Amino acid sequence: MWILRSILIAHYFILGNSVKQSEQKMMAASRLENVTQTIARILEGYDIRLRPNFGGEPLFVGMDLTVASFDAISEVNMDYTITMYLNQYWRDERLAFNTYTLMVENVEDNEYIGTNDIEEEESRDMITLSGDFAEKIWVPDTFFANDKNSFLHDVTERNKLVRLAGDGSVTYGMRFTTTLACMMDLHYYPLDSQNCTVEIENGYTVSDVVMYWRKTPIRGVDEAELPQFTIKGYETNDRKEKLATGVYQRLSLSFKLERNIGYFIFQTYLPSILIVMLSWVSFWINHEATSARVALGITTVLTMTTISTGVRSSLPRISYVKAIDIYLVMSFVFVFAALLEYAAVNYTYWGKRAKKKSKKIKGIAKKSSSRADHNNLSTPTHEDIIELQDVRMSPIASLRNRQYPVDASDNLDLAKFPPSFRITRSYGSSVRTGLRHRAARNNHRPKMLHAIKRGASVIRASIPKIKDVNIIDEYSRVIFPVAFLAFNVGYWVFYVLD
Ligand SMILES: *[C@@H]1O[C@H](CO)[C@@H](O)[C@H](O)[C@H]1NC(C)=O
Ligand SMILES: *[C@@H]1O[C@H](CO)[C@@H](O)[C@H](O)[C@H]1NC(C)=O
Repeated sequence: MWILRSILIAHYFILGNSVKQSEQKMMAASRLENVTQTIARILEGYDIRLRPNFGGEPLFVGMDLTVASFDAISEVNMDYTITMYLNQYWRDERLAFNTYTLMVENVEDNEYIGTNDIEEEESRDMITLSGDFAEKIWVPDTFFANDKNSFLHDVTERNKLVRLAGDGSVTYGMRFTTTLACMMDLHYYPLDSQNCTVEIENGYTVSDVVMYWRKTPIRGVDEAELPQFTIKGYETNDRKEKLATGVYQRLSLSFKLERNIGYFIFQTYLPSILIVMLSWVSFWINHEATSARVALGITTVLTMTTISTGVRSSLPRISYVKAIDIYLVMSFVFVFAALLEYAAVNYTYWGKRAKKKSKKIKGIAKKSSSRADHNNLSTPTHEDIIELQDVRMSPIASLRNRQYPVDASDNLDLAKFPPSFRITRSYGSSVRTGLRHRAARNNHRPKMLHAIKRGASVIRASIPKIKDVNIIDEYSRVIFPVAFLAFNVGYWVFYVLD
């Protein structure tokens, strides 16, 4: 009895289920037919040229957009490229089909368009239609006022969406990429921040169509990434634009973009700093090494030119001075000043020599006039000392070792000469190097002291002691770095803290 009952119940359920299934199938079929009929009925006598509520109250069109990606920002063209989803919402009573209770389950597909906050709550009966349905109904002629070039993506199909609600509410979404003009103020480049906008407008005056931002107008900005900028914030605005043909509603979205300085630090600032520092190496090179110092100066000047050319190539030809221009020009000035400094050093050095020489010649002339029998050769001039150097360099050993008679008074003058001259000069019959010369002088002292002195002198000899540093070089070693540091402090304080 109990078993029979349970079998019966099971049978009833199975039977019931199959009956339900066949019922559902039939219902689905009739529903499809109903939808097709509904759409056909809606479009019957629909005039696509007339806006909803034609001749009456203005139509309200809601907007929201989702930023998919920021693609590029170009300073040269003064524009930026952005990919986004734009959704427009309005109500067209001619499209209402509320009289039929249509149950379309898959309302929540096409999630990408982001229309979760459907405004009409009471009528959840929605039909999602293919994008080309939009060609059969009236749609607002929305455009971007600052658009330069846009395209709708059409892989794999045109990226459009149309949803129809029972009361005639339309959701119209699309995905596209647009290049929008953004006039940038580059006075602070590359330490600047820009304000780029999306200007949305349409061809109807406010008496026909009024656009408004929906509750959450913008999405996806936090996830958007840019290589060169950081999005510091955004805001939406909504104003009326007065044009020759009437007053139009204008919606705008503005992004505050702050440039990332990292790229410029490594690409421009650090190389410039290093080049300027490299130019200071010249002050530590003996002023007689003309070729070394001139080469260093010219190389650094040319490198600065190269750096500034590279920077300029990525910028439009703006007449005003940008922050980076100031830095590059100042770096150039520093490098150029280092080269000029050498010119000054060289000039004063040789000028002094020339003066001394002419004085000496005068003195000699006086002497020779007073003592006609005096031999000029016994008092070598400075010119002779240079000649001596040349002789030493001669590959012929006999010439190199030739000894010159030295006047005692001339020894004092030698201190004024660079070490290269002093050290290599051979003094009469004494040994050639200064060290041995000194050792020979001290050999009458006690042995212990002698050894210590010897050690000390060896150390002293190993540490080169340059006495003949030009006074201009000596000052430059301090003045240039201090001036550059002061400039940097001023520059960064002004541009970063501003
Ligand atoms: C289809 O439409 C008819 C009226 O034309 C209606 O009676 C029927 O209930 C509708 N079917 C469904 C499943 O909505
Ligand atoms: C951008 O500039 C417009 C006007 O030029 C202003 O209304 C808007 O607030 C600015 N946006 C930001 C994020 O500063």
